[in-house]
Amino acid sequence: MKKIKYSEITPEKIYNNRRSFIKSISIGAGSIAISSLPFSGNAASDKIDNKTSYKDITTYNNYYEFGTSKNDPYKNSQNFKTNPWNISIEGEVESPINLSMEEISEMFLSEERVHRLRCVEGWSMVIPWMGFSLSELLSKVTPTSKAKFVEFDSVYDPDQMKGQRYPVLKWPYKEGLRIDEAMHPLTTVVTGLYGKKLPNQNGAPLRIFVPWKYGFKSAKAIVKIKLVEKMPTSSWMRASPREYGFYSNVNPYVDHPRWSQATERVIGNDIFAPRVKTLMFNGYEEEVASLYTDMDLKKYF
Ligand code: MTE
Repeated sequence: MKKIKYSEITPEKIYNNRRSFIKSISIGAGSIAISSLPFSGNAASDKIDNKTSYKDITTYNNYYEFGTSKNDPYKNSQNFKTNPWNISIEGEVESPINLSMEEISEMFLSEERVHRLRCVEGWSMVIPWMGFSLSELLSKVTPTSKAKFVEFDSVYDPDQMKGQRYPVLKWPYKEGLRIDEAMHPLTTVVTGLYGKKLPNQNGAPLRIFVPWKYGFKSAKAIVKIKLVEKMPTSSWMRASPREYGFYSNVNPYVDHPRWSQATERVIGNDIFAPRVKTLMFNGYEEEVASLYTDMDLKKYF
């Protein structure tokens, strides 16, 4: 699988041309191994066939810093400044660091990772993300034995983010993972999508994506990663603890008080298309179920 630097992520057009090129040779010459070609996807992508369109992925968003309607982030984030951008990794670590996007680009190679984003509101999209495993980033700071959880802070900038002038959530947007969840190779630092740099409305310049959890666990525009001993309280847990638990694993058998989680509406399908069944851990049961053995997932929702 080809890995590239953040700074080399190409514009959409080149990506699409390359895609159709790959398609034509793989049809024409069945013997060429697709895995030897650029952007062939990862192991998890074989579970996922229909990618959501670039337009839907970038115009139907949740990003309360830019408003609470689905098209607010697209409308209100276009002038958001993401350069310069720094991210600090601190707390229970041997060697805290502060990295610029340029340094991140030099240090970590991005690859395409196609995953389904399942929102707790009951819809989903299949997104060809670009990124690398969070564990690669965490290995640079060497977590201490006290590092039991990882806390993510999104940026706080009410001058640029009008939504932060209202107490819809406690700002900055905060999320967290248990350390073993954070170290899991599927937990991704996202730098782009559809081979392009990450659009502002999707969390530029850097966001987290945790494929087996509801979408809100994947904080956008992060500036701080802190390793801590105690379980962090996320913005959503603080807003409504009865509705939002710390784990928030996709689970069709445990409903949200307001929304059944058994099925989902696939964004991009026409409005009469049937909802599809939601899969345990969003389809990653084999990869992640072992993180939760002996845990009552109704209690630890
Ligand atoms: N991160 C921040 N900082 N602010 C938010 O409001 N919304 C979350 C998550 N990350 C949110 C956030 C929710 S509810 C979802 S479903 C996903 O982002 C949506 O990601 P997408 O817009 O890229 O599809």
